[in-house]
Amino acid sequence: MKSCGAAPFWCSTSHRGSNRDSCVIRPKIPAVFAPLALFCAAALPVRTAEIKSPAEAGFTGAQSCASSSCHGGGTGRNEFLVYQKKDRHVFAAGILGKGTSLKIAETLGIGEPTKAAQCTVCHSPMEAVAASRLAPEMKQNPDRGVSCEACHGAAGEWLRFHTRKDATYQQILATGLRDLIDVGGRANACVACHLNLDEKIRQAGHPELYFELDGQAAIEPPHYVDVRPSIGPRSWLTGQATALREMSWKLSKQRDEQLVPRWKALVWLLQMTESGAKELPSGEDFSAMQAAADRLARKASRDPWTKIQITGQLRKYVSTQKEFGDAKADKTELRRRAEVLVPAIDRLWAALKKEGGAATPGFEKTLTLAAQLSHEGNDFAPTDFAKALADVEAEIAPALKP
Ligand code: HEC
Ligand code: HEC
Ligand code: HEC
Repeated sequence: MKSCGAAPFWCSTSHRGSNRDSCVIRPKIPAVFAPLALFCAAALPVRTAEIKSPAEAGFTGAQSCASSSCHGGGTGRNEFLVYQKKDRHVFAAGILGKGTSLKIAETLGIGEPTKAAQCTVCHSPMEAVAASRLAPEMKQNPDRGVSCEACHGAAGEWLRFHTRKDATYQQILATGLRDLIDVGGRANACVACHLNLDEKIRQAGHPELYFELDGQAAIEPPHYVDVRPSIGPRSWLTGQATALREMSWKLSKQRDEQLVPRWKALVWLLQMTESGAKELPSGEDFSAMQAAADRLARKASRDPWTKIQITGQLRKYVSTQKEFGDAKADKTELRRRAEVLVPAIDRLWAALKKEGGAATPGFEKTLTLAAQLSHEGNDFAPTDFAKALADVEAEIAPALKP
């Protein structure tokens, strides 16, 4: 049998690319069960011109992924089941019928939140798209909650094609599957719902939205395993740069005094990274920052991190305590810095641990305290936070020794 390229078998037999680092995502299908590719890609009857753009493609619904021979089966093909049983996204529609949602909707005067596009657009997107884009069986009964296609892309054009044994990942992407293996693509998918919220909705009582890709991906019940080296810090930096890009975009449309300190805090955080220091301008030109943050996100999605870089970055972040002790600095801004600093330390530490970092039993306790302080809103006490950060530093000092 002819080989389909240098990629491991699961790349050519499933919908994994043949020439991407994506292929190091661990195959969940044991080799013995994986179907073997008998034919290499020859002439594929796919002409991109005939394929509807992602903005027009139809949605086929989660049920179209759910059969036991596809993603609703046993280990290795149970993505649908993991998701359905455990993922918060399934409940995202349900909470629209509950207390807080009803209050928010009443304040906004938008009627029932379960039916308001202002809410379903993020909480139950299939209920918010035009019926013309839904497959016939979806029209009566669209998916509720955030379902597969909200992240993976409307499947109308790729559902049949993506199971073809002879199709490469690149060819499948060309039919509209969203590239979530690319960390930048992943950040873009999540940030769409996880950061920018209409200010009126927030004022009506909606929780403020934060985006930090690595930590948020880690608390998702895993329906995939990403074992690429240094994927944690790559996700963290790509996600934060993507968040900065989105905030900059929002601010470039309209200045928002609530958002500016958050924006400044992210700029502060990212300018302390090696690539951020090179890419990000100083000053308050939001459009320039949007473009720069986009460049940074793209770069960060590819750049690997060495253990030395992770350690160096951590050291830099834990030693920012002096800045929190500065009595003249703006308290709101300091709090926003604390809010992005704590997850940064957390994710870098998680990455170092993976690399076999030294045991520091008290670390989590000290960081949790710092996290609590960073969430104290108007009561934020910078000097208390500085002290907490000093404890964090003392705790991980042994692990950071050069
Ligand atoms: C931009 C996307 C977006 C829009 C629009 C949006 N939400 Fe949310 N909402 C979210 C996200 C994301 C969360 C989860 C936040 C978290 O836990 O980090 C959330 C959380 C909530 C929560 C808290 C849920 C909990 O478990 O505590 C409520 C209640 C809520 N939303 C109601 C609404 C209502 C009502 C509307 C319409 C007026 C609305 N949302 C519009 C994205 C959105
Ligand atoms: C919140 C966003 C999100 C939702 C919702 C979602 N996925 Fe995923 N899924 C991802 C990400 C991110 C990856 C990792 C990138 C990849 O492997 O393509 C992934 C990976 C996968 C993979 C590849 C698994 C592997 O071993 O590499 C399959 C199959 C999959 N998802 C199926 C589904 C199905 C079926 C649903 C609906 C029941 C679903 N996903 C819902 C984000 C999502
Ligand atoms: C279509 C909008 C949408 C997309 C896309 C989306 N989410 Fe969500 N996500 C939500 C909403 C809405 C909630 C709130 C659900 C709830 O609390 O009931 C949520 C909740 C979550 C939660 C649970 C929060 C908590 O406090 O427990 C995590 C984690 C999460 N999302 C991660 C992700 C990641 C990672 C991605 C990208 C791979 C992603 N989401 C993509 C809308 C979205």
